[in-house]
Amino acid sequence: MDLVPETYQTFNHLPRQFADSTMRTLAAKNRLYNLVIDIGPGDGGITRKLAKLLRHRRFVAIDGDPKMIDYCRRQDSDLLSPPSGVEYVLQDLSLPWNQMSESVGQLAGQADLIFSNFVLHFIPDKHQLLDILSRLLATDGGGSLHANLLIVADLTDRITTAVPLLDGTKHLYLSADKQLSIWRQALEANGLTIDEFRVTDSEWRLTRKEMIAFIPVLIQHYNTMITEPKQFLSLREQLANPVFDAYTNPTGGHNNPDAWTKFLADNTVADVVLHMKILSIIAHK
Ligand SMILES: C[S@@+](CC[C@H](N)C(=O)[O-])C[C@H]1O[C@@H](n2cnc3c(N)ncnc32)[C@H](O)[C@@H]1O
Repeated sequence: MDLVPETYQTFNHLPRQFADSTMRTLAAKNRLYNLVIDIGPGDGGITRKLAKLLRHRRFVAIDGDPKMIDYCRRQDSDLLSPPSGVEYVLQDLSLPWNQMSESVGQLAGQADLIFSNFVLHFIPDKHQLLDILSRLLATDGGGSLHANLLIVADLTDRITTAVPLLDGTKHLYLSADKQLSIWRQALEANGLTIDEFRVTDSEWRLTRKEMIAFIPVLIQHYNTMITEPKQFLSLREQLANPVFDAYTNPTGGHNNPDAWTKFLADNTVADVVLHMKILSIIAHK
């Protein structure tokens, strides 16, 4: 992925807002957890805050990016602040359960809380992902999942015939409703009962520099829909225009097929607002 841990914490205002809200809900329960798992800690800032907030016996954070895991471990060995006690595990969670490392396999049936903030939408196969999360949750009925994730913007109406290669992918993009139904089915098919399933329309303001750094991440989300790796790679650059248009001009109407090209050319645009649909899930086994 293209996120850089050293800079991520300077602009992750929207993920932090959602994480804080979930943390308030969890803190209010005042429960002692045997095992908390954070899926996708990123730079670990939110993870350390959660580990401090919740009473727990063990806390494991799993991420698929070695530079994120290295950064989390280095932050934790910084002598200026006390270590969080979080165990960091490197694991790509887009793989099936039978390809999980021993460290992840050993956690089966033990997590009484799985927390995940702005991560699960990166993983293409939602059924396979929910199979993993369900297997990790405690089997005694006390295990719950608290997740906030992005509903990726639908590009179907943003793509014009002017870019024939992209035009050929139109049938691959999923509407928000279709994505919501996939998430719901994946939860239920893996034995999870949904307690909350809430979509919030949110705004994320970024400076020009942050936007330029962030556009590859927004584009990367579409490899969950354009699943043929070679095809995705060949389309990455061309996706910038429809992706930027979809997030900055959400009501459509007047599509701007050159949205990203125009933004890059106009240095007077100092910041942008991304319009994002965030799905918050609470479910239990
Ligand atoms: C946007 S960051 C979120 C960080 C943090 N949870 C937050 O809310 O600020 C997404 C994280 O998900 C991780 N991630 C993405 N795909 C993954 C996968 N297939 N397996 C494991 N981690 C993944 C990335 O490496 C990254 O650290």
